[in-house]
Order: sequence, then C-alpha cells, then structure tokens
Amino acid sequence: MTTPDHVRIFDTTLRDGEQSPGASMTLEEKLQIAEMLEALGVDIIEAGFPIASNGDFEAVREIAKVVKEPVICGLARAGFRDIDRAAEALEGARRARIHTFISTSPVHMKHKLQMEPEAVYEAVIASVRRARTHTDDVEWSPEDATRTDRDFLCRCVEAAIKAGATTVNIPDTVGYSTPDEYGELIAMLLSRVPNADKAVFSTHCHNDLGLAVANSLAGVRAGARQVECTINGLGERAGNAAMEEIVMALKVRADRMPFDTRIRTEQITRASRLVSQITGFPVQYNKAIVGKNAFAHESGIHQDGMLKNNQTYEIMTPESVGLTSSSLVLGKLSGRHAFREKLKALGYELGDNALQDAFNRFKTLADKKREIFDDDIVALVDDEIMRAHDRIRVKALHIVAGTGGPQKATLTLEVDGEERSVEATGSGPVDATFNAIRALVPHTARLQLYQVHAVTEGTDAQAEVSVRLEEKGKTVVGRGADTDTLVASAWAYVSALNKLLLKRDRTAPPAEDHGASALG
Ligand code: KIV
Ligand code: ZN
Repeated sequence: MTTPDHVRIFDTTLRDGEQSPGASMTLEEKLQIAEMLEALGVDIIEAGFPIASNGDFEAVREIAKVVKEPVICGLARAGFRDIDRAAEALEGARRARIHTFISTSPVHMKHKLQMEPEAVYEAVIASVRRARTHTDDVEWSPEDATRTDRDFLCRCVEAAIKAGATTVNIPDTVGYSTPDEYGELIAMLLSRVPNADKAVFSTHCHNDLGLAVANSLAGVRAGARQVECTINGLGERAGNAAMEEIVMALKVRADRMPFDTRIRTEQITRASRLVSQITGFPVQYNKAIVGKNAFAHESGIHQDGMLKNNQTYEIMTPESVGLTSSSLVLGKLSGRHAFREKLKALGYELGDNALQDAFNRFKTLADKKREIFDDDIVALVDDEIMRAHDRIRVKALHIVAGTGGPQKATLTLEVDGEERSVEATGSGPVDATFNAIRALVPHTARLQLYQVHAVTEGTDAQAEVSVRLEEKGKTVVGRGADTDTLVASAWAYVSALNKLLLKRDRTAPPAEDHGASALG
C-alpha cells in the first residue's frame, strides 16, 4: 500500500545508466547491482531493454528470477516484437512491469520515427493495449515529452491511460527543461487530462543543463509520485537525475517537500561505490552526498565549528548515508569473528568459502599495511567477490623497473587451471605487465582506460586500479586492489579479460520496429 505522499523510486541504472558509453556491464555485475538496489529499498528496477540484445534479455530474465522485492521492469519500443520480448524476459518476475515508449515531439516524429502524429497516436494505443495483454502494470512514456506540443501530449497521455497505462512517465529526454517549466508541465497534465487520476505520473529528467534533480523535485511538488533516477546520476550524455540526491533532498528538506521514499539511506554509499567500481566511472570528489569530500571539513573555521557542534556545517550526518567514519578498524591480530562482524556492519553477508577467502586476503594485507580502514576492507571484499568465477588468475609477478629501461615483467598466470609464464618488456612497468598478459592470453581487445586511485591515505595505501577493454564494440571494466600498484594493475587487466570471456553476444535491435536507435 502506498500513501498519497509516497514517492516511488524507479531505478534505471541498469537500463538508462548502462547506456552511458563505456558503462556496459556483465550479467553477473547487473545481478550484483540489482541485489544492491533491492537492499536499498527501491520500488521498481528497470533491469534492461530485452530486445536490444541477448545479453540484455538474459540480464532482465535473471534479475526477474532472483530479485523478488521490487517490481522488475523491462523497456520496449512501441512495436509488438519489443513488447512481447520484454514480457518473455519478465516471465519469472514476482511483479512485472512493461515500460513502452514512443517519441511525440515534432523533431523526433519527423526525423527519427518518420511517422505522422496520427500514426504515433495510434501506436500509443496499440502498444499499451499489447503490453496490457501481458501484465496489469504498464508504464508509458512519450519520449522527448518536454519538446512536445502540449495539446498533442495531452491527447496521447489520455489515450495511453484509456488503453491501460497505470504509470505515465514524462521524459525530459534531452535535459532541456527548467524546474518551473517542468513543474508546470506535470501540473498542466494532471489538471487537463480527464483521466489523469487513473495513473501515477513519473519524472525522468536528464542532466544536460545540470538541472535533472531540480526538475525531478519540481515534478514531485507538482504531483508526480514516481521519480526515475540512477545511482551516481549515471546515464546517457550528462546522465540522469541522481537517486542519492533526490532521496536525501526529500529526507533533509521534508519541511518543504513532505514526501517519503522507502530508501534505506544508510545503503547509499555502498551502492554508489559498487556502481562506480563496476563501471569504472569515478565519482567526482565534490559530488553531493557520495563524493569523497561531501562530508570533509578542511578549513580551520569549519573544523572549529564542527568540533563545537556538527550542525554548524553539516545538514545531514555521514552515517545517514552509510558513511562509517574511516577510523582504524581491524589489525593484524583481529580474528575471523571480528572480521565477519565488521563485514556485517559494512553491509556484506558472505558465504563460508567467500568469507574464508576474504579473511585470508585481509590477513595478507594486515601483514603489509599497518592500519586497516573500512575503505580497505570494502576494496578487498569487492575485489574478492568479482574474482569468484575467474578463469584467469594472477599467480606471480616480478618487475624490473627504474631508470635506464627497458622495464621487464615476469608473469605467471593460471588459465583454466593451467599455469603459464612469460617474460616481457615495455615502456614502463605497467606496459611490460600488460604486454606479458597479452603474450600469455592473446586477444585483440584494445585498452581504453587505465586508472589508479589510492583507497586510503599514506604510502602503504592499497591502489585500486580500473582497466577498460574494448573488443568489437563491447566494453568491459576490470578492477584490482593491492598495496602493490603493479600487482593491482595485473589483476585489473586480467579481471577485464575474464569479463570479456563471459560477456554474452550483443546484437543491435532490429530496425523495423518503431525506431529508437539511440535512447535517452
Ligand atoms: O530519456 C528518455 O526519454 C528515455 C525513455 C526511453 C523513457 O530514457
Ligand atoms: Zn532517459
């Protein structure tokens, strides 16, 4: 049951978020994120666009089977094949939603769809009716709604509701709107469309002008009761409205916006880190809510104020978004029990084998690093989870580096249980290491990104390395963490290779359906 003031959180990290160039994810990663979203308490997960590829179809199907608390949604264009494919992917869901859309703005209808408005209007009715033959929970979106003629938009919305849409989503596909305009649009639809009370209205705002969150909140204030958003604001171009910002704005400013969500806000930091690690998209340091500096107080005046009373410079506590203070947590002498308790506090529940593996790595780390912080444990455990099903593993790496060159890497990998070793040179130790991997596991993937960041402070900090590889249009991101940057680099590259091996074939959507070759 929902109250009139409940705002549903519709997460589209796995669909619109995954459409960001370079952010594509493997099936296992999507499942990991979907489980995280369930723990976070989102109402609806848009799990993918099933007709887009076999990979998308499988991901939606797996998520629908495994994740039971939220409604699982699949996207479909207005064509029947799209809609039927989405329904097929959602068969195992406890509660399934089909989200069907078609462009309604003059520019999209003319140039993208090459359809007359009346044909679009007919397609709205037919597509929603078709979706209703599969499920009672149907969402309809007029793509590029904010640039659509208002009278035509009202007609289409009315028709969609009459045909059975239970949610009407109003996308600001190109991030063009402003808060007052977007709020007025929602209010206008609610007052002018005769059957508007029969559907939940939803916001879907892109961030091209940096207004996605403000526009979404204006929509809610005007009567929308669903917000579509992504973790870290991931999404096409400048991204979507960031879930963490919307949820915390509603929570912190309940005096101005008295609406509730079911989000367990203490899980926000973990969700943000997971999405960042999986996609290899770093979170900007000063990003609201989840940036590294969002709760850091550096200047003397601020620190002095904080010591006297933390309300002087903090409008919400770090704990409310799940940021545990990065204090010294465990050391060399900590036992398995303390380690398990720590993991629980950080939100991890590992099976016995995974716990033992993570604990062994923790002990190795504690031998190398004097102080172990929460962030170290998070990096280590996430790394361990990602390695669980790897076919290629790093067994040993020795480097000759320094001035003079050429730098040399001697590497041993285990590939499907068999050990292989090689020596390779390169311009620098990282290059030599990657050349060694290429010699042991020949492949044509191209290195698109190599990125290093320190997990904590100090020269004994763990390095967290991300590597993005691209092969035939497919991209994967691998990650490795170790106190030795080169070992972390080798693991990151190997982890990306493992994902390439896993990645399902992705095929382009067929061209004959009502076209959305590029979705917003
Ligand atoms: O931005 C957009 O218009 C979309 C639709 C597919 C809902 O993502
Ligand atoms: Zn979008």
